[in-house]
Amino acid sequence: MNIKISPSILSADLCSLGRDIKLTEEAGADYLHFDVMDGVFVNNISYGIPVLQSVRKNTDLVLDVHLMITEPHRFIRAFADSGADIITFHSEAESDIEGTVKLIRECGKKAAVAIKPATPVESIYKYINDVDMILIMTVEPGFGGQGFIYETVDKISALRKYTESRGIDLDIQVDGGINAETADIVRKAGANVLVAGSYFYKAADKEKAVGILRGNV
Ligand code: DX5
Ligand code: ZN
Repeated sequence: MNIKISPSILSADLCSLGRDIKLTEEAGADYLHFDVMDGVFVNNISYGIPVLQSVRKNTDLVLDVHLMITEPHRFIRAFADSGADIITFHSEAESDIEGTVKLIRECGKKAAVAIKPATPVESIYKYINDVDMILIMTVEPGFGGQGFIYETVDKISALRKYTESRGIDLDIQVDGGINAETADIVRKAGANVLVAGSYFYKAADKEKAVGILRGNV
């Protein structure tokens, strides 16, 4: 399976964001993970549209936008127009999941639905034919640098089993607490898009960190 690595700039030095994005490109990452928090859906506020526009002008990396906001449908077009390539929203935050996926696709972007650790994985099975990716949160969304929740691994395996048995080619993303040890666990369970914030930006040798996350080192 083709493993993709998506460093989360939530753990970058935001005063030197251009430099850190360069380092991310040079390390061989596939995506750049952009966490948007509204202080309502999660208990934290990060950054949003103007920052995304600046990031877009400074990189050709795939921009993997993770919306942790209520009523995400209201902002899909704005994020699409600001340079997102993949737009992920939370099933718990949106009453019209089908409509929001459709809107993302109409904007010409890849669509993904995310679930929090306590949300059963079966609840998103009905959407897997319509989305490009499912994000299984491996920490409670809201903050970088938290510990991996091991109970989420069974959800990854169950989803991979479900898609494989139906011949569906689906990206399964994991986000939160990913490091050398947990990357191995989630890859074995069937995840193929790995977000890493603190592990990646703290690493002195970022190219090596990407290799480790991919399982090549
Ligand atoms: C958490 C965010 C993550 C976060 C991951 O709500 O969605 O993307 O930046 O950070 P680490 O890898 O440090 O857990
Ligand atoms: Zn995220």
